Amino acid sequence: MARMRKKKNIPERLKACGDYWFAVPVANRGHWREIMGVNAEAKVFVELGCGKGTFAIETAKKNPDVCYVAIEKDESVTLAAIEKAAAAGIKNVCFICTDATLITNYFDAEEADRIYINFCDPWSKRDKPKRRLTYRGFLAMYRTILKPGGQVHFKTDDARLFDFSIEEFEASGFHLSAVTRDLHRSVWDETNVRTEFEQKFAERGLPIHRFVAELPANGEREEPFAASSINLR
Ligand SMILES: C[S@@+](CC[C@H](N)C(=O)[O-])C[C@H]1O[C@@H](n2cnc3c(N)ncnc32)[C@H](O)[C@@H]1O
Repeated sequence: MARMRKKKNIPERLKACGDYWFAVPVANRGHWREIMGVNAEAKVFVELGCGKGTFAIETAKKNPDVCYVAIEKDESVTLAAIEKAAAAGIKNVCFICTDATLITNYFDAEEADRIYINFCDPWSKRDKPKRRLTYRGFLAMYRTILKPGGQVHFKTDDARLFDFSIEEFEASGFHLSAVTRDLHRSVWDETNVRTEFEQKFAERGLPIHRFVAELPANGEREEPFAASSINLR
């Protein structure tokens, strides 16, 4: 799908949406709940590669007690998401413009309850599988920032990426549930929130693959892979 044209006056426009965007988001590490003004027991949901923010905004709206932090690496796309959230007036969502490889700079150990990954770039196996957001090197970071029992909700239109991701999550000690290769014709469709890409794929009749991956609730944190096998380079 076509790339978004670079927006004009990005710094000024980001500053104008101050409640939704942070100039130095690393300073919020470990403090997202207080900063977002939700109670100390509120769940923290994180989304990686949130695009123009439709899913983040709708999910935050459906879960007003949750603190929702969405990450997107493209500045213009992040700005589009921020301006949409500001126009909708949703208070429990905010955005970080950064690369997901840096996620541990923004979240403390066990700070997050849930991570959403929706329609991430598939990166062919021949090309750069280590850049897939479901590669075991990323999963090692997710294991760090997630609480015991924390979840990753994953959706994709790409069957090969889906198969690869199932292997990576299972090998990384996550338990998979709610697995489907046709989400829109499953029992879970009723509660599903569609993303922008998902809506376009649905209009073309393409099936959507989805699973939920959960960490053990007992806090078992032993790293399943040797450090040399999970570096991202
Ligand atoms: C295919 S789009 C999907 C957008 C949205 N999740 C949806 O389903 O409509 C992937 C998005 O992830 C962003 N992205 C890709 N790799 C990323 C990374 N390493 N860190 C943060 N964002 C990333 C891209 O800029 C793009 O906006």
